[in-house]
Amino acid sequence: MTILVTGGAGFIGGNFVLDWIAGCDEPVVNLDKLTYAGNLETLASLQGHPRHTFVQGDIGDRALVERLLAQHQPRAVINFAAESHVDRSIHGPGDFIETNIVGTYKLLEAVRGYWSGLPLGEDRAQGRAPAQDSFRFLHVSTDEVYGSLSPADPAFAETNRYEPNSPYSASKAASDHLVRAWHHTYGLPVLTTNCSNNYGPYHFPEKLIPLMIVNALTGKPLPVYGDGMQIRDWLYVKDHCSAIRRVLQAGRLGETYNVGGWNEKPNIEIVKTVCALLDELRPKADGSSYAAQISYVTDRPGHDRRYAIDARKIERELGWKPAETFESGIRKTVQWYLDNPEWVANVQSGAYREWVSKQYEGSAA
Ligand code: NAD
Ligand code: TYD
Repeated sequence: MTILVTGGAGFIGGNFVLDWIAGCDEPVVNLDKLTYAGNLETLASLQGHPRHTFVQGDIGDRALVERLLAQHQPRAVINFAAESHVDRSIHGPGDFIETNIVGTYKLLEAVRGYWSGLPLGEDRAQGRAPAQDSFRFLHVSTDEVYGSLSPADPAFAETNRYEPNSPYSASKAASDHLVRAWHHTYGLPVLTTNCSNNYGPYHFPEKLIPLMIVNALTGKPLPVYGDGMQIRDWLYVKDHCSAIRRVLQAGRLGETYNVGGWNEKPNIEIVKTVCALLDELRPKADGSSYAAQISYVTDRPGHDRRYAIDARKIERELGWKPAETFESGIRKTVQWYLDNPEWVANVQSGAYREWVSKQYEGSAA
């Protein structure tokens, strides 16, 4: 059996593919458009790997997706592909509508056609095709669809109303609704996860944590939006990946699962923690703290004040728990960026694109 992953050259999808290949024998077909956020260098250790097939392409290219499904007969499709950065969605929402909404719709249609043609369980031959009832479509989404919490509000439960506030979260909310509708209307066996903010290796340095690490090391200002007291709930990326594997394995069809690590932190505390770790691990020659580079800047328009995930459903029903505390995960993350300056330089310079086309020449399906 095989799984098809979309967006597997991005931050979370890339970590997921690396962990999947390391953890089991099942092959992965990895479909990614390689936008600015997709980086095949993240997957460099898989180059030539017999169980990893990389295909550059768009989830909205129905003919391509249909061909891949027919060719590889996956037992599951896991949809990570998305435009993912809130600030970019404010400046240019078009790509978010195109990929997150229209792309998800086209992907769902291609998958529905494939799934409805699969053999029923009892008819299943010994061949490669999975049975219709064992197939899964897992949609990876965000807690931002629930909107913003006040300080006294309880954390987001799966039963919370969708109240998205940014073009990004509105586009993800729309995609979640499409996935839900394809289950209720057509019976497509879907699962949806709504996760809190991730951090860890291979995170593109436009998001808060990697941006702060990279800017600190290059002597640039550390831009904190508004008063820095907005709260996010942080989860180490490998824990998100283990939650997705668990939901894929045992999640109830049509259900959504909130994923989080009970780690609510104000942004300014995150930035100060990163600075303190850098002070310890890469002290500045003049003995000053990286915190001196913190610079408060104009707030993001419509900035959500607080996100917090109630993860009791996935803990109770599926027995999932994160392995990392915030303290252990953030230390590993800072150390990873210190150890991998070439990865950062490449994603920032665009040189990785040339590298990629050379490394992967002719390897696409
Ligand atoms: P990312 O921006 O790092 O990666 C997205 C990947 O999708 C890139 O490799 C990109 O090339 C690819 N892609 C974009 N458009 C595509 C298209 N039309 N067809 C095929 N591939 C395309 O994002 P990420 O942080 O890894 O997020 C992955 C998923 O997880 C997204 O759906 C996001 O909404 C969700 N999510 C992210 C977070 C977070 O904190 N980063 C938290 C919860 C949920
Ligand atoms: P981000 O990493 O963009 O994730 P999201 O907007 O999806 O939560 O931002 C995390 C928080 O950090 C968010 O409240 C915005 C804030 N932020 C800054 O203060 N400065 C920055 O330079 C960035 C990128 C984000």
